[in-house]
Amino acid sequence: FPCAYRQRAPLAERSTLRVGGTAELMLEPASPQELVDAVAWVRERGLPLHLLGGGANTILPDGVVSGVVVTTDRLRRTYRLVPPEYKSGDDSGDPYSEATPRIALPEDGGEPVLVVWAGSSMPGLVNASKALGWSGLEGLAGVPGTIGGGIAMNAGGSWGELWEVVESVRVLNVDGSIEDLPRERCSPTYRNANLGERIVMGAVLRLEKSHKKIVGEAVRDYLKHKRDVQPVTEASAGCVFKNPDPNLSGGRGAGQLVDEAGLKGAAIGGAQVSPKHGNFVVNTGGATATDVLALIERCRATVAERFGVELEREVKV
Ligand code: EPU
Repeated sequence: FPCAYRQRAPLAERSTLRVGGTAELMLEPASPQELVDAVAWVRERGLPLHLLGGGANTILPDGVVSGVVVTTDRLRRTYRLVPPEYKSGDDSGDPYSEATPRIALPEDGGEPVLVVWAGSSMPGLVNASKALGWSGLEGLAGVPGTIGGGIAMNAGGSWGELWEVVESVRVLNVDGSIEDLPRERCSPTYRNANLGERIVMGAVLRLEKSHKKIVGEAVRDYLKHKRDVQPVTEASAGCVFKNPDPNLSGGRGAGQLVDEAGLKGAAIGGAQVSPKHGNFVVNTGGATATDVLALIERCRATVAERFGVELEREVKV
């Protein structure tokens, strides 16, 4: 195998919803080159390829997953860039080079640019930006998962989304080539970076200089809001549905529609619509992917019937 691997690897422990069967084979690359090699290895054999980052926003299937699951969460390196190694728009130096200074805490000045590999944890980066007094990632406070997954789905919430700070993204193309795509060449939309089959390997994030206290307070406020209105201690996959076009839903979000349809607390097996927020399905213990998907379908069908609004799933299946 091209890198560390596991056979018959349990998936539920790698999912924030704690649901999922077994991966026939899991490759766990720990460097960008190993990721390239792992993906090439799978493709050369014509095997189905399943990418797995932090296991957030995803419903992993029950049973045995055939083909190969390639994880990205071991690619965790983060750099803080200081001039002259890198300037915006300057491609003379490689911002991902091993020679680039690692992030140094506490703050010691420097340009607010973070270079991150796909496996860096989003909560970890929010904490790092707080410790540095760099603004731009506060809105992602409380969002689990890896930055690679977050970039692929344009993670975010009412206080902003990840692509607001993406300067460029390093992708592995289907033909095996590596490419740095500047923000201008990408067209991210609500909860989707629209990168197609490309695999996110890393990103350059452009933040803004602020103050530790200000960034820290924003993070604290957002986390408090989430604790107040969302199920934060139960296992979940985050919001199940995208918020619909407010013109079609009378300004109501997906959570409110599920709530008004009377579905809060509704359960199938170990899956339950959170009594706290209608757009979350929580695992009350022993839920299967089949339970979760059946409950999501019940929510979708009920909301469509009651309000004529067709909710689109946000979680990846
Ligand atoms: N509401 C209800 N009943 C509910 C849930 C919500 O009436 O069961 C009402 C609330 O009272 C509020 C409105 O709906 O007036 C909006 O609710 P909330 O503030 O919870 O925001 P949201 O639109 O449901 C969005 C994102 C979340 C993100 C929060 C905060 C989507 C689909 N959801 O939720 O993202 O955490 O804002 O930033 O965009 C996620 O993507 O996984 C996610 C959870």
